[in-house]
Amino acid sequence: MNLTEDSLYVWHVPLAAVRAQIDHLNGFLSLDEIAWANQFATAPLRDVFVLARSSFRILIGKAVGMPPEEIRFIYGPYGKPAINGVALRFNLSHSGDWAAVALAWSCEVGVDIERIRPIPELEEIARAHFSAAEASELLSIPAEKRITEFYRCWTRRESRLKAIGVGLSGANGQPGTWTDTRSSSHAAESPIPCPEDLFLNLLFLESPQDYVTALAYSGARRNVYQVQLNTATDLLNIQSVWNSSESEASSRRRGLARMSWRRMHA
Ligand SMILES: CC(C)(COP(=O)(O)OP(=O)(O)OC[C@H]1O[C@@H](n2cnc3c(N)ncnc32)[C@H](O)[C@@H]1OP(=O)(O)O)[C@@H](O)C(=O)NCCC(=O)NCCS
Repeated sequence: MNLTEDSLYVWHVPLAAVRAQIDHLNGFLSLDEIAWANQFATAPLRDVFVLARSSFRILIGKAVGMPPEEIRFIYGPYGKPAINGVALRFNLSHSGDWAAVALAWSCEVGVDIERIRPIPELEEIARAHFSAAEASELLSIPAEKRITEFYRCWTRRESRLKAIGVGLSGANGQPGTWTDTRSSSHAAESPIPCPEDLFLNLLFLESPQDYVTALAYSGARRNVYQVQLNTATDLLNIQSVWNSSESEASSRRRGLARMSWRRMHA
């Protein structure tokens, strides 16, 4: 299984399951990341940061052929991590018990995962953060179906922001010029700054139950592969998976059957 120029990988990592290895995983973080981790107000928030960051490092390390602890991130103007001089693009998102990590060569990529949970102030948030068309479409659907659609809209927008590399702070009031393949009717209203030539593909990924994951990436359509890890051992065994050029079937024979492999689209 190789990360080729025409492919893109998204890994779902079970943070609750990998927590058993937190002391080991903590060793992959840089000194500045350890300092950030120690600034979180609560231990659970700190742990999520450590687990997601270390998983991120393991997966990036396998793609670029570096030990996870030797990766040196640089950060864009709004905080998007990258590696200087390396064409690998990557993005991380976490929510609840899951993290999602997207990896691709030479295209901008953004991923957002959200755990679906009730939101009493859903209407206010939709009106404040979504375009007028998106908010009115959302509020026109039956209340019992609204929450999932809310998270689809949220993650779709967030994945775009993350592909472009701006946080919400970078999108204030600036008109968007991007296009996406699914909902171009909303594009003109979206206040997202984007280079004229950045065409974003957008898709929803298969996700753990009660989660929504959206992926945005630039350029020509790619083969998108998904891998769902189930245990800490799966994560620590990534090296053997990533280096393997064997077929999915032979990977399974080598004892990796617990991971779920899916090809999303070509
Ligand atoms: C990064 C950002 C874009 C998303 O944050 P989030 O949804 O809270 O968090 P996620 O778990 O999805 O992503 C966090 C990761 O994204 C990456 N990231 C940070 N800044 C980023 C940026 N500007 N662009 C892309 N990725 C970024 C980091 O790897 C970060 O991981 P960390 O927690 O280890 O530092 C945030 O800065 C932001 O502004 N969010 C906007 C929130 C909002 O109101 N959105 C409205 C959508 S309708």
